[in-house]
Amino acid sequence: MQNNVAVIAVDGPGGAGKGELCLRLSKKYGFAILDSGAIYRVLAYAALKKGIALDAEKELSSLAANLNLSFKEVNNAVAVILDGEDVSSFIRTEETGGAASKVAVLPEVRAALLQRQRDFAVAPGLIADGRDMGTVVFPDATAKIFLDASAEERARRRVSQLESRGVKADYDKILKEIADRDFRDRNRATAPLKPADDALVLDSTTLSIQEVVDTAVKFIESKLGR
Ligand code: DC
Repeated sequence: MQNNVAVIAVDGPGGAGKGELCLRLSKKYGFAILDSGAIYRVLAYAALKKGIALDAEKELSSLAANLNLSFKEVNNAVAVILDGEDVSSFIRTEETGGAASKVAVLPEVRAALLQRQRDFAVAPGLIADGRDMGTVVFPDATAKIFLDASAEERARRRVSQLESRGVKADYDKILKEIADRDFRDRNRATAPLKPADDALVLDSTTLSIQEVVDTAVKFIESKLGR
C-alpha cells in the first residue's frame, strides 16, 4: 500500500497491451489510471513546440516542473490538456513517443516529474501505467505487473491498429522505431525499464487480452488479500 491507497503498477515496453489491461483493471476495481507515458509525451511535445533541444536537461527539467498539464474525461476517453489545449492527438504519434523516450533519459527531468506522478495515488486506488511505476515511482505498490511481448508481435499489433483506422503502415519502419525506443528505455542509467523484483512478469506475445487480464486479476487478488 502507498499511504494506505492500493496502487497497481503496470510496467512494460510500448505496445505490450498495458493500456488495455489498465483500462480493464480500472473498470474492475474502480481505480483511476495514471498514464505516466502521457506526461513524458506532453513534455516532449511542449519542448518541440518551444524549440528546446531534447537533451537540454536544465531547460527540460524546469519545463517539466512547470508543466500546466491535466487529464480530462471526454466522450469516454481521457483527453490530455496542456495550457488549456487538448493535445491528445498530437502526443500519440510515433514521433512524439520517440521524443518522449529521449527526454525520459534525463535524471533531472525524471526527478522533476516524480512527485506529480505520486500525487495521483488517492483513495480508493490507482492503476499506474509506465516503465518505472513498480521500481521507482511506487516501490511499495500493492501489486506489480510487468507486461512484455516480443518486438515483432508489438509491431504487428501496431500495424493492424493503424490499418483498422485506415492509416497505411510500414511494418519494418515500425519495428525499427519500437526497437530503438526499447533500447533507450531499457539501457538508460536512471529508472531503466525492467521488472521490479516482486513483479509478476507476463509475456503477452501468444496470449489474448482476456488471458492477460485473468492472470493479472488472479495475482492482484492474492496481493489485495481477497
Ligand atoms: O508509454 P508511452 O509509450 O506513452 O511512453 C512514452 C515514452 O515515455 C517511453 O518510451 C519512455 C517514457 N516513459 C518513461 O520513461 N517512464 C514512464 N513511467 C513512462 C514513459
